[in-house]
Amino acid sequence: MATVLSVSGSPSASSRTQRLLRHLDDRLLAQGHDVIALDVRTVPAEALLGADFRHPAIVEAAELFARADGVVVATPVYKASYSGVLKALLDLLPQYALAGKTVLPLATGGSTAHVLAIDYALRPVLSSMGAAHIVQGWFTLDQDITVRDDGSLAVASQADEALARVVDQFSAALGRSPLLAAAG
Ligand SMILES: Cc1cc2nc3c(=O)[nH]c(=O)nc-3n(C[C@H](O)[C@H](O)[C@H](O)COP(=O)(O)O)c2cc1C
Repeated sequence: MATVLSVSGSPSASSRTQRLLRHLDDRLLAQGHDVIALDVRTVPAEALLGADFRHPAIVEAAELFARADGVVVATPVYKASYSGVLKALLDLLPQYALAGKTVLPLATGGSTAHVLAIDYALRPVLSSMGAAHIVQGWFTLDQDITVRDDGSLAVASQADEALARVVDQFSAALGRSPLLAAAG
């Protein structure tokens, strides 16, 4: 099975994007994939804002990308685009950090006006980083994601079903990945 890097691009300490992503990680784990979580908000700000390519946290993040067969990139929509912290991290990775990899782009947002942010903003960046295959992404409205008082997560059923579909398509695409096929 594949190694999947699951990247949350939210700077928020109570991020719905991050909670949703970890919920989707469970589905990938159940399908037999190894899943490694990376929350951009845990990368030291001085490394991100100082463009410190040699900072151990940036070197480690680059290694995680290099090891992965597939990458899930999830971002909140901020100002009609992906988050600034996500871009700050992507800017510090090698130009072709996604070469040969299968990528699933996801976004959460407050307004359906920005449902296409994945396609007009995030997808071109992922493509420029050499992604071999960017599967269909999904935008989830923040109001469809609820963190209950006990800390558990509830996702509106239509949104959850749609997300399960794109995760399964990603999983199937990973199975057809040229990198995995070459590894036997
Ligand atoms: C600074 C800021 C800017 C935002 N800009 C947008 C926007 O342009 N379009 C949109 O649909 N939602 C926007 N939102 C709403 C967030 O995308 C949405 O609540 C998201 O689910 C937050 O995810 P998070 O909890 O992981 O940070 C914005 C929220 C913040 C805090």
